[in-house]
Amino acid sequence: MYRIIEKKTLNDTVELMVVHAPFIARKCEPGQFVMLRVEEGGERIPLTIADYDRVNQTVSIIYQVVGYTTRKLAAKAAGDTVSDLAGPLGRPADIHPGKKRILGIGGGVGAAPLYPQLRKWQETGAEVDVILGGRGREFVILENDFRTFCSQVYVATNDGSAGVQGFVTDVLNRLLAEGNSYDEVIAIGPLPMMKAVVGITKPLGIPTGVSLNPIMIDGTGMCGGCRVTVGGEIRFACVDGPDFDGLLVDFDECIRRQGMYKDMEAHICQIGTGA
Ligand code: FAD
Ligand code: FES
Ligand code: MG
Repeated sequence: MYRIIEKKTLNDTVELMVVHAPFIARKCEPGQFVMLRVEEGGERIPLTIADYDRVNQTVSIIYQVVGYTTRKLAAKAAGDTVSDLAGPLGRPADIHPGKKRILGIGGGVGAAPLYPQLRKWQETGAEVDVILGGRGREFVILENDFRTFCSQVYVATNDGSAGVQGFVTDVLNRLLAEGNSYDEVIAIGPLPMMKAVVGITKPLGIPTGVSLNPIMIDGTGMCGGCRVTVGGEIRFACVDGPDFDGLLVDFDECIRRQGMYKDMEAHICQIGTGA
């Protein structure tokens, strides 16, 4: 059992939980994730470790309430427990001193996994800028947290309620047109967003890291559920990723595979709500 120490609402559908998990907090690195089970017998879901505190032995998860299990998780309060938290899983993000300027791009809840990675890049001595995007103001999360270490924080919203009106890719295009250059771009968000970012960076040869979120079942490389194709080769996101070289990822295949269980998920969600 893992105790929930703190719970915070970040917007209508996104929440943050701080969970007491001494072993994971001691070993985890940016880019890694946990497999969480809300209660005995329930399904396991992968969630990125959004932050960790080695002294207080806690990890933070930030999750969007999208279906049956995240709804069950959202029903928990500080002081309650979740039955399983397995991790840290996946490979840590490849972050090393030597790069001068990094641009992070976070779409919606993708800002959560981006946060620990950019903070670590800044700790290596790199200058770090970030573009945060969302449908509207309330979907842009962690803006103030990024401001504590990023040199520039740009915001783009579809409805123009915060920052500029448009997509994160509009801001990226503008920054590149203004002559900014980056040693690496890290894009984390919905697959179409990451695909669109790579559509801009690939022709310019800008190294671009992405974090893939295929359906994961065991999270340990055994079921094959999280298969992705990178550079023409099969990779398993839970053990070979979830971070990959975005310039080599077959995004169209990822998008097709992610929608495979949509009807079943909607059905389970209806059963869960009694609808
Ligand atoms: P469902 O109704 O079951 O599914 C809704 C959608 O969630 C699906 O269409 C699918 O796209 C996705 N999904 C469902 N089951 C899985 C599964 N077993 N594995 C992967 N995706 C699934 N979400 C966050 O909000 N915050 C995070 O930090 C985060 N980190 C992730 C890290 C990794 C490595 C991966 C693979 C996914 C991550 N996700 C994250 C997505 C999260 O796992 C799903 O939103 C969650 O499983 C939905 O469960 P559900 O039962 O509430 O919804
Ligand atoms: Fe089973 Fe990756 S989740 S192989
Ligand atoms: Mg589910």
